[in-house]
Amino acid sequence: MSNTTQTNPNAEAASENEQTTVVGETSEELKAEWVDYQFEGDPKFAVEDLNVWYGDDHALHDISMDIPENSVTALIGPSGCGKSTFLRCLNRMNDRIKVASVDGSVRFDGREIYQDGVDLVELRKRVGQVFQSPNPFPKSIRKNISYGPRKHGDVNTGLLARLTGRDDSEKEDELVERSLKQAALWDEVKDRLDDNAIGLSGGQQQRLCIARALATDPEVILMDEPASALDPVATSKIEDLIVELSEDYTVVVVTHNMQQAARISDQTAVFLTGGYLVEYDDTDKIFENPESQRVEDYITGKFG
Ligand SMILES: Nc1ncnc2c1ncn2[C@@H]1O[C@H](COP(=O)(O)OP(=O)(O)OP(=O)(O)O)[C@@H](O)[C@H]1O
Ligand SMILES: [Mg+2]
Repeated sequence: MSNTTQTNPNAEAASENEQTTVVGETSEELKAEWVDYQFEGDPKFAVEDLNVWYGDDHALHDISMDIPENSVTALIGPSGCGKSTFLRCLNRMNDRIKVASVDGSVRFDGREIYQDGVDLVELRKRVGQVFQSPNPFPKSIRKNISYGPRKHGDVNTGLLARLTGRDDSEKEDELVERSLKQAALWDEVKDRLDDNAIGLSGGQQQRLCIARALATDPEVILMDEPASALDPVATSKIEDLIVELSEDYTVVVVTHNMQQAARISDQTAVFLTGGYLVEYDDTDKIFENPESQRVEDYITGKFG
């Protein structure tokens, strides 16, 4: 990834450019106040004039938004509008995509993450993530949970640790139990912690991935369509879990399911075609009385 220098036109100026729209979508002038979401307290993330390109393809345009802590922020919008791209900017996962370049500022707890010298391992420990399809390691349930803390040196187990008297097996047991309880999976797996995680159902695997993300003690959990591959019962469990987690964690979740966004989130950001953030506000406001006609058309299913 390279940082590209370029001037960042503001939202109004951006709208003067030709914007691509999808079938059924009308073009309208974007207003800066539609994305100026006010809340109490310091933002967990303060994103300013964020632009992302994949080669020459400009995927995100001048995104500025503040994300409050200990709440659920939903990112919605039609396919290809840049939701996953935006999410990946919050823990610099786009760094792993060769053709991606990022310009702008993302401050996490007031500290710029797009600057030299940022410890990416530490950043991704504090800002964990869960993907669309459950991706447990082909290892035991226990090892799936303890892998991260072991990698970060927070837990030592095994022969060497035993021989050197630094064995943290008890600590590992506690961590496994705590993380699985937090992810509402403990009761279902407590008698088979040494079974391979691949043998769990899809919904259980996804909760295991959430437990794995929680095991490294993050402050933020990024979730990219975490329930899209699950049945309604498993989805409902994940939704309840997200709401519960938001008491102690900052959750940012991408979803294509409007009802889900309305049910679980405190604030909603609507991205639309071309990689523009069009409106960002309290979830009730977005779903009941949005400012933008395009947002209204999108959430009432007229396009997308
Ligand atoms: N690794 C990549 N290389 C090149 N282009 C990419 C890459 N990832 C995303 N893009 C492009 O960036 C734009 C935004 O993609 P992104 O995946 O962020 O959208 P999205 O809103 O998450 O879509 P979906 O709802 O389908 O997941 C798209 O035009 C996409 O083709
Ligand atoms: Mg996506």
